[in-house]
Parts: sequence; C-alpha cells; structure tokens
Amino acid sequence: MSARALLADAEATLTEAGVASPRVDAELLLAHVTGVPRSLLLVAARPNDLQRRSYLELVGARAQRVPLQHLTGSAAFRFVDLEVGPGVFVPRPETEVLAGWAIEQASLHETPRVVDLCTGSGAIALAVVHEVPGVIVHAVELDEVAFGWAQRNLSGSGVDLRLGDATTAFSDLDGQVDVVVCNPPYIPLDAWESVAPEVRDHDPELALWSGDDGLDAIRAIESTAWRLLRPGGVVGVEHADAQGESAPAVFGQRWADVRDHPDLAGRPRFVTATKRR
Ligand SMILES: C[S@@+](CC[C@H](N)C(=O)[O-])C[C@H]1O[C@@H](n2cnc3c(N)ncnc32)[C@H](O)[C@@H]1O
Repeated sequence: MSARALLADAEATLTEAGVASPRVDAELLLAHVTGVPRSLLLVAARPNDLQRRSYLELVGARAQRVPLQHLTGSAAFRFVDLEVGPGVFVPRPETEVLAGWAIEQASLHETPRVVDLCTGSGAIALAVVHEVPGVIVHAVELDEVAFGWAQRNLSGSGVDLRLGDATTAFSDLDGQVDVVVCNPPYIPLDAWESVAPEVRDHDPELALWSGDDGLDAIRAIESTAWRLLRPGGVVGVEHADAQGESAPAVFGQRWADVRDHPDLAGRPRFVTATKRR
C-alpha cells in the first residue's frame, strides 16, 4: 500500500474518532514509523510490511485518543525536544509564550537566577537554560513519576532539579531569585466534561485540577514567588483562558505591574507581576 493511500485511510479513521488535527497526526505518525521527514512522505519509498503494521497500530491507538506525543515519545517545545509518556504532562504550544517571556526577562541580567515551579517534563527549565547564556536554573516537581521524566530530560543541562512541593521549595533561595515561572494545574474541578479525552485520560491528575475555581495552585504560587523573588524580581504564571481576570486578581496590591498576556491564539493565557522594591 502506498504512503498516499495509508495516509488517506488514517486521516479518515482519525477524523471519525474526533481527533482535532487528523491529517497532521497521520503524517507525523507515518514519519515516526518510517523515519522519513514529513515533507518527503509522498515521494519516499513505499512503507514495508513491518512499518505498515506498526503504523496501523499507532493510528488505532491515536483513534482511541492516546496523545500523539505518547505515541512518538517526544514533544517539541521552542528549540528543545522533551521525552514524554505516561505519567507526565505533555508540554503545550501555548506555554512556549510564557517560556519566551521568562527567557526575555532572564536575558536582562548578567547571571540571572530563574526558578521553574511545577516543572513536569522540565520543558520550561530546559528551554530557559538552552536560550539564556549564563543563567542558573532551578526546577521543582512534586510527582515522582513526572520527576523521573524531568530527570531524564534535564540530565546534563546543569538545571538544579528537586523533588518536592512548590509551596515550600527552595527556602535556601529566599529573596535571591530574578524570575519565577510556573505553569501550574489550573482547571476547575467542575470542568471535567469539557476537557479533551487526550488530556482527561492521559495527563496526570495532579497536573490538571486545582480546586473549585481552578485557582488554588496559582494562589500558592503567588505566595511562593513573593518569598523567592528579590525586590524588583518578576513572576509569570499560566492560567486557563477563562481566568484572564481572576488570575491577575490573585496578585493583589503588594505586586506592581500586574499584567495579563495572550497566547498565540489571542486567548488570555498568563499573568506577570513585579515584586515591589
Ligand atoms: C500543567 S503541568 C505543567 C508542567 C510543565 N511546567 C509544562 O509546562 O509542561 C503542572 C505540573 O505541576 C506539578 N505539580 C502540581 N502541584 C505541585 C506542587 N504543589 N509542587 C510541585 N509540582 C506540582 C504536576 O505534577 C505537573 O507536573
């Protein structure tokens, strides 16, 4: 069977299953199985029997709404690739904008100190250390399985990775940090129905839910950031698109320059604030 025919069948299967980007996913899975770049799939040699069988298995799993990145084993994030799989949150494109903000802020200093709270796979920490010369990065993760993925992804990067609770972490760094960045859990408990199966059934619960209004973790992060930052230091925290007013409101009068920022789709996505001097 030609790649063209395989792709057409896979696209139809994934469309039927309600996958949001059926053609792209069909192509990325075939590229993964054959090792042929996505742009060359239609002109490369026809997949052999083994490749065809593996491909059909992966398309079947994707139709069951297993996340694409769990099937390929990796997720691209800015200029780095993270290993991902069961037990760790798959980094999202919208978080790349928050990471970009942290990178810009860190780049204003000669030897910046950055803390990534709730690091998951280590995506933000790895992007920061990759893009900011001279930076010192610390990261913390509470969940042991996610921590294992972060250990693999951050190995050799120089990031100081710790297993622990973001709310009590890094007491040795109090008042010394230039930038605190965090993509915490933020989905309200009653939003379960509206969450895609890939997220609901495959991202870890600790990565998703955060109390009735989804703001419990953001409240805790506000107080940790206040403790860690030096006067004039900045914090950036991701939130749900419905929290464009409620998340900034968590950063009350003691903070300066409280601002909300959109993601690439123009939806409210993260709040930033400066610790008053
Ligand atoms: C939404 S995920 C984000 C992961 C990663 N920062 C990213 O953007 O891909 C939130 C992460 O926070 C972790 N987490 C939840 N509560 C935590 C806490 N109190 N302390 C440290 N990590 C926590 C979860 O296990 C999960 O890995």
